[in-house]
Amino acid sequence: MLQATSAYLDWNNSLDVLGKAYDVGLFALIIGPKGTGKTTLVREFTNKKNAKLESINFSLRTRESHLIGTKTLNEGTIGFNEGILIKSMKEGSILYLDELNAAEADVLLRLDEALDDRRQIVLKESTGETINANQKWFVIATINPLTHVGTKELPPQLLSRFPVRIRLDYPPEETEFQIVKKYASGNHDDALKQGIKLANTLRQAAAVEELYYSPSLRETIAFAKLLDSGLDAKKAADIVFANVYSQWGNVEYQKVSDIITSMFGR
Ligand SMILES: Nc1ncnc2c1ncn2[C@@H]1O[C@H](COP(=O)(O)OP(=O)(O)O)[C@@H](O)[C@H]1O
Ligand SMILES: [Mg+2]
Repeated sequence: MLQATSAYLDWNNSLDVLGKAYDVGLFALIIGPKGTGKTTLVREFTNKKNAKLESINFSLRTRESHLIGTKTLNEGTIGFNEGILIKSMKEGSILYLDELNAAEADVLLRLDEALDDRRQIVLKESTGETINANQKWFVIATINPLTHVGTKELPPQLLSRFPVRIRLDYPPEETEFQIVKKYASGNHDDALKQGIKLANTLRQAAAVEELYYSPSLRETIAFAKLLDSGLDAKKAADIVFANVYSQWGNVEYQKVSDIITSMFGR
């Protein structure tokens, strides 16, 4: 299987902005819909910096203990299993808080303690000791737009801990083409460009709520890989782009199916 050579194509200068934020110790927030390269950007940045990455993906089920840690009892001895926040503060690694606005308020509150200007947290769960973050500690968070299911508004004080904000949206078609080509080997440029155009048509329709779903770069990459596998463009488009809409009923599916027919023929 073909892997992307240098993974990230930095089409809107995000690596540079992250680098500046890192140099001056300002935490960064990346805002954008799913599949726009947020995670890939953070990985690339961490590699560039030769830094260690600690990641956590937030959901309604994320607890304070995932961040702080849990007490352990081993043959009568009480220990403490450090959570990812404490670990990264001590190590001075890059902490990646993925989909932060999917977390519950109490979890966010505890995080806020560590993120304020003192960069310290009191371990009230165990010894009560104060943990001071290593000088090199750096935090990057991502949030999905509020239109995304399961997302909540970040409390303003937490938002203010991330003064460097990077918007990552779907790239222009020509840029998306270059990105997708990193993951596909075949010679199907015309069909691929059509697929990207289709994805953008669907994204625009979803943005004005004419459709329920907005395809991401994951889908255009999958489309390219199916073309590589020998599938014809119309069939690949049905599989990747149309079929998913039948989840919302036949009318929704038919809308997309008609667009595909008009672009790729029958
Ligand atoms: N600028 C880019 N350069 C290289 N690959 C990208 C880029 N943007 C998106 N991708 C690819 O698109 C897919 C989705 O990206 P991902 O980072 O998982 O998105 P997100 O974290 O925003 O949901 C991945 O396969 C990723 O490698
Ligand atoms: Mg991601």
